[in-house]
Amino acid sequence: MKFTVIAYLLLLTGGSITMQAQQPVNNNRPYALVAGGSKGIGFAISKALAKRGFNLVLIARHEDGLKLAKQKLEAENNIHVEYLVHDLAFESSATEISKWCIERDLPLKVLCNVAGLGGAKDYLEIPLDTVRYMVRLNVESAMALTYLLLPLLEKNTPAYVLNVASMAGYAPMPTKNVYSATKSAVVFFSYSLRYQLKDKDISVSCLTPGPVFTKPEIEKDTKKTLGVFGVWMAVPPEKVGEIAVRKTLDGRMLIIPGFLPSVTSSVIRILPRRWVTSLYSKVDKKK
Ligand SMILES: NC(=O)c1ccc[n+]([C@@H]2O[C@H](COP(=O)([O-])OP(=O)(O)OC[C@H]3O[C@@H](n4cnc5c(N)ncnc54)[C@H](OP(=O)(O)O)[C@@H]3O)[C@@H](O)[C@H]2O)c1
Repeated sequence: MKFTVIAYLLLLTGGSITMQAQQPVNNNRPYALVAGGSKGIGFAISKALAKRGFNLVLIARHEDGLKLAKQKLEAENNIHVEYLVHDLAFESSATEISKWCIERDLPLKVLCNVAGLGGAKDYLEIPLDTVRYMVRLNVESAMALTYLLLPLLEKNTPAYVLNVASMAGYAPMPTKNVYSATKSAVVFFSYSLRYQLKDKDISVSCLTPGPVFTKPEIEKDTKKTLGVFGVWMAVPPEKVGEIAVRKTLDGRMLIIPGFLPSVTSSVIRILPRRWVTSLYSKVDKKK
């Protein structure tokens, strides 16, 4: 049903739903675009960027969340916030967003690809349409937005790309198959892109957080699977946003907020994949 409505809207709008934001304000401050910037980690990243004087372009699906984010960020900082309503999983969204930015010759210095879809259910438990939607949102949208916005970033160097993956991207997780596969793609994409853009003065970073309790479902799921260890691992969203922005602007590649997630990620990355996969499947059976 949900997909039928989306497909109908797609037909009506020719690919994506766009609501035009206001004209950029010329206050001589550079811009940062945060794809998925109205809530959770994306909003925390937006806050940390606003604190450092960046004007913002926020992208999300729901206008009410975007409006609220704009009000909060403008009230607390001397910056301007634009927003565009888009579903980033739609193929035309990246084209329309980049067109909007390029037409205005936006002084874009930072691109943050944050929006992503996970959840308790994954491959074999969800419809194929949802699998495809996850792949398009988690991987394709970051690749397409980066590709299309590179000319603007190149004009405004030094510039920065921050891709949000997850600790789940470090090893295959049988019960979060598509999620971990898409997040590992984001990690690999970021590593290679960093080398490709090195000579252009564009730094690429990848944020791979452990649990961040941005909504009750994540807290419940983490406590169920990891118990008290999951609670110790969790880092508050605001802290994640602050660390992510500080390290991105410092030119760091991998960003793992929190001591426990950092240590756990290092262990996961050196252990043989089949061990970690088997371990994950045992932990997940607790659900
Ligand atoms: N929370 C965690 O524990 C955790 C851990 C590791 C990695 N991550 C990753 O961090 C990122 C953010 O997670 P979060 O927990 O902060 O999520 P969240 O609280 O659900 O916020 C997601 C943001 O992205 C927007 N968004 C979601 N789907 C979108 C779509 N299809 N098109 C456009 N915008 C969309 C949301 O606004 P609308 O709903 O209005 O669209 C919101 O602004 C994700 O990539 C996630 O995989 C999260």
